[in-house]
Amino acid sequence: RRTAAVIPAAGRGVRLGPGAPKALRALGGTPMLVHAVRAMARSRAVSVVVVVAPAAEAAEVRLLLGEHALPERTEVLVVPGGETRQESVRAGLDALPQDVTSVLIHDAARPLVPVDTVDAVVEAVRDGARAVVPALPLADTVKEVEPGRPGEPEPVVATPERARLRAVQTPQGFDLATLLEAHAAIAVDGEGATDDAGMVERLGVPVVVIPGHEEAFKVTRPLDLVLAEAVLARRRA
Ligand code: CTP
Ligand code: MG
Repeated sequence: RRTAAVIPAAGRGVRLGPGAPKALRALGGTPMLVHAVRAMARSRAVSVVVVVAPAAEAAEVRLLLGEHALPERTEVLVVPGGETRQESVRAGLDALPQDVTSVLIHDAARPLVPVDTVDAVVEAVRDGARAVVPALPLADTVKEVEPGRPGEPEPVVATPERARLRAVQTPQGFDLATLLEAHAAIAVDGEGATDDAGMVERLGVPVVVIPGHEEAFKVTRPLDLVLAEAVLARRRA
């Protein structure tokens, strides 16, 4: 009965601007992906980490992870990713060792998630939840709109009550059989979901939210890199 972490890292990082694939960009002099792998490996519960690399960079990623120190107990596998995040996650799940029974799915683009958040997700799964999502309340009010042409004003459709909304992060934790069932159902149905828990919700399986962490934010745009560098500098001070 082991817990694994799958790290989708196969995206290009288009919103970050031109350069290497996002997961390979440096943060405090170390590739973002290495931070993300260490963030998972720091949890004593995690004994295997599957990195889903950009297909063209899989060999490079294998070398890279060999060069950086990781805890002895952690087994690291690297597999090539797919066209979409969902396909990449699927590739990672397919590579899991037979004895894995629960899994964390963690974006390489959230390199600074604290180990306490990782442990809290693992614990909630071990306590019996089939799907666990760390999330935070929103600072901004959110409007639902009728999307129009780019640049055109968009009519507001509704304003959901902010107090009931949560911005979800990763790692999301799952009973492995449940997540595999969700992926199998989507393969039949077609339509994907924008996060892993969303796929499980469609099965009608309960998903629970636990507190996320500010430092688990996703590096998406250039300004996020500025914030990430500042968080690292503060940790090292
Ligand atoms: N991801 C992946 N395979 C894909 C697309 C995304 O493994 N085909 C991963 C990314 O590497 C990232 C995570 O999914 O760690 C979250 O995706 P996102 O933040 O959107 O990263 P990118 O898709 O790389 O960025 P962008 O959308 O700006 O291109
Ligand atoms: Mg993307």
